[in-house]
Amino acid sequence: MRVSTERDGEIAIVTFANPPVNALSVGTGLVGELARVVANEGASGARAIVLRSDGRLFSGGADIADFGDDPDSDVAGIRALIDCVAASKVPVVAAIHGAALGGGLELALAAQARVAADSAKLGLPEVTLGLLPGAGGTQRLPRLIGADKALELMLSGRTIGAAQAQALGLVDAVVGESELPRAALALARRLADEAPPRTERAVSVDAATIANARAAEAARARPSLARQHIITCVEAAGSDLRDGLAVEARLFNELMLSEASRGLRHAFLGERMVQRIAGLDPAIRPRRLASAAVVGSGTMGGGIAIALLAAGMTVTLIDTQPDALARAVARIGKTFDDQTAKGRLSAEAAAARKAALSTATDLAASAQADIVIEAVFEDLDVKRSVLAGLDAAMRPDAILASNTSTLDVDRLAGFTRNPARVVGLHFFSPANIMRLLEVIRGRETDPEVLATAMDFARRIGKVGVLSGVCDGFIGNRLFEEYLRQVWLLLEEGALPAQIDGALEAWGMAMGPLKVMDLAGQDIGWSIRKRRAVEQPGRPYSKLPDLVCELGRFGQKTGAGFYLYPEGARKGVPDPEIDALILRHSAEQGIERRAIGDEEIVERCVYALVNEGAKVVAEGIAQRPVDVDMVYLNGYGFPAERGGPMFYADRIGLPHVLERIRAFAAGREGWAWEPAPLLVELAAAGKSFGTLNR
Ligand code: 3HC
Repeated sequence: MRVSTERDGEIAIVTFANPPVNALSVGTGLVGELARVVANEGASGARAIVLRSDGRLFSGGADIADFGDDPDSDVAGIRALIDCVAASKVPVVAAIHGAALGGGLELALAAQARVAADSAKLGLPEVTLGLLPGAGGTQRLPRLIGADKALELMLSGRTIGAAQAQALGLVDAVVGESELPRAALALARRLADEAPPRTERAVSVDAATIANARAAEAARARPSLARQHIITCVEAAGSDLRDGLAVEARLFNELMLSEASRGLRHAFLGERMVQRIAGLDPAIRPRRLASAAVVGSGTMGGGIAIALLAAGMTVTLIDTQPDALARAVARIGKTFDDQTAKGRLSAEAAAARKAALSTATDLAASAQADIVIEAVFEDLDVKRSVLAGLDAAMRPDAILASNTSTLDVDRLAGFTRNPARVVGLHFFSPANIMRLLEVIRGRETDPEVLATAMDFARRIGKVGVLSGVCDGFIGNRLFEEYLRQVWLLLEEGALPAQIDGALEAWGMAMGPLKVMDLAGQDIGWSIRKRRAVEQPGRPYSKLPDLVCELGRFGQKTGAGFYLYPEGARKGVPDPEIDALILRHSAEQGIERRAIGDEEIVERCVYALVNEGAKVVAEGIAQRPVDVDMVYLNGYGFPAERGGPMFYADRIGLPHVLERIRAFAAGREGWAWEPAPLLVELAAAGKSFGTLNR
């Protein structure tokens, strides 16, 4: 039963259920049924209604998976339900446990009163999906808590606890969770007895509040249409409710059809989809990992330790160099202290995290850990000796993970006696901040180890994406094609600032040349040298090597493709580099030409798409959405564009293929061999999205 009712005396208790998060689904008929039941109960003698839900939370809001190309019909049912609650002849009390988010909170706002469990969270996070609260929230929240506070909550999309919600006037009472049914009933009885006439409150919206919010939005580096529309809706809340609701519905519908919201919704659902491993026995239960050893106390090892400590694990940091260990411990401690100073972490929590960290200089200290992550120098021989040593020292059932970014996980697993317990965990720097974690499945990795590694990723706050073994895994394999176009564009006529500017204007968090200067140009150089040995004769641009040969490795040496005077983090264009590029073009016999920003974006992004289609077809990535989640969470791809594969779907695969074929006919066309999967889908009129399951 999705909607059920029972009576407690003259009070009707209406319960709805739609696992796992009680999304207000229109398509399944849930909201229609709920509206009918609420209306019937009001008309058939109940003196008041308690509205509650089963499961772990009140409601996660409108069913995002329902949203398509017809915003009116997608949410009309929710609006009708909410109208029905708001118009109820008898008082309705919402009993909120777990969470009331988005449309779920809007449903509760339409009730005459709200009681929340003290553990409940409330919020209107629609803005994070490029939307606004479109079922009355922009109108009812300001009426309840005032325009200023309502604006803050809706523009940030943050959730608040029940106590804060009560202080704001958003809920009428807060009780322990076990008290919730009784408290909701008691309040319903009281309201039934008092029988107050239901009147919609008015709210005065100060013109200065609106002007300030608009000015703050205009000052942002990346203004958002969703935030602008939320401000307009709150301005409209100062007028008649019906008019305000009409403004809200119109602007919500516009946002639903926007590319930004489509991309953000894909990102939300995609983050959850990538947790599913196709073909894995659903009976396999991941283990809960409580203790870890991290081997190597450099930037990566230290960052990983911070991420694990922040997730409540105990960590032993192992390094043969006591000095390096001491520096790492100081760095880790400072990170937590800084968070305390900024008010983001209590002093007690910081102390507990520091106390959960211990150090050792011997691999024997890994003996008790549930998982050991090696983050030593990226060299096969170094890894061989560390992995073999760990294999001997660790508990036989513990998981052994390598944080390699390029090496063959199957070869690494071969250095141990038990390759089934070996998995790759490719963190991205800084490991305590970047959300992406590529989980590399070796040939012999045990399914239970894999399931545990994916669960571990989620528990430490990362987006774990499964990747098969290949050079560069998903992310860096695509990045190589992206960078190849960057070097070619520089040879053909573009300059660094133009390339970075074009891609940043398009939405990338940072242009590729800035990224390489930040990461260190020498890293790419050493990979290119390795490839030159492994794959002799493979064509590549010598341009970045010329820059490295000058000792210009990027920010850390004060110069790379840009200059960083006196340790500046923001680079300035360098005429010497421009001259070097021009010289290189001439030496290669390339006649430079004016290159438009559009060509820069097309070539760089379609290079990602084409290689992304290849990694999907090869089974390195499980689905196109896995490629998207790698790029959104590890490479600064704009979330509003949903990831390279989603973006290609939105552009239309036939068009993308046509452009790729045009590039293939141009200079260095060999790099544009169209991916057979792209050709196949384009011919069949299908999208990459059809493969996301
Ligand atoms: N619609 C559809 N599916 C949803 C959903 C929603 N609103 N919220 C969560 N789900 C799905 C997830 O995709 C996931 O599916 P899966 O099991 O197939 O992978 C499943 O529910 C569980 O979700 P989580 O893994 O995120 O579970 P958590 O316990 O970690 O978090 C949550 C629960 C806090 C509710 C979190 O899912 C969440 O933040 N949901 C989105 C809340 C939101 O943004 N609501 C606004 C929706 S738009 C709206 O309401 C418009 C209205 O104004 C008209």
